[in-house]
Amino acid sequence: MTQDELKKATAEAALKRILPHLEDNMIIGIGTGSTANFFIDALAAHKAKFDGCVASSQASADRLKGHGIQVYDLNSVSSLRFYIDGADEANEHLHLIKGGGAALTREKIVAAVAKEFICIADGSKKVDVLGQFPLPVEVIPMARSHVARELVKLGGDPAYREGVVTDNGNVILDVWNMQIVDPMTMEQKINQITGVVTNGLFAQRPANVLLLGMEGGVKTITA
Ligand code: A5P
Repeated sequence: MTQDELKKATAEAALKRILPHLEDNMIIGIGTGSTANFFIDALAAHKAKFDGCVASSQASADRLKGHGIQVYDLNSVSSLRFYIDGADEANEHLHLIKGGGAALTREKIVAAVAKEFICIADGSKKVDVLGQFPLPVEVIPMARSHVARELVKLGGDPAYREGVVTDNGNVILDVWNMQIVDPMTMEQKINQITGVVTNGLFAQRPANVLLLGMEGGVKTITA
């Protein structure tokens, strides 16, 4: 199977998992990226069974609206039963690196509200130690150089993601060469640097369920 076929199969497995729970007044949190896009496309056939979605990016909101699915502002929603989103890396504790699509801050906010975060990814995203994928950090533009210097002190090699402005008007530093053996502590340390909006480690709020698309089928890992 191609990587896209694995992503699609994983998205369909997530849909199958949530289908029995859909209710008329339910609002679902939706992430960003190619795997989330497969989920949105599969979810569309069932749009009459729930109320609408909250999206973690303008791109996902546009795709949902394109399918005729109602998109709500998170501030008008008090709870989300599910949040479904992809990841760039995942470990066995369901700690994640996210933000390859620059949507990490909104993804973290929607995940914080959701009762159950179902992470969907192809099997190549599963690693023993996080950090082979460069860790995205969203930064207030005027703090970029200061934050980069502080990230070097933490042992990383930050690179400015040229030409990318987040949905929040900020910039991204991708931090290379980090062996993140303690994701909880590293998430906290990076977030304490002045000028950082947030970083792409999802350890303090990990996924609740990880669905991994493999050649032999979709593997489920729970916390
Ligand atoms: C978006 O900012 C990311 O967190 C995505 O969830 C992540 O990059 C996974 O993307 P794909 O589903 O395209 O691999």
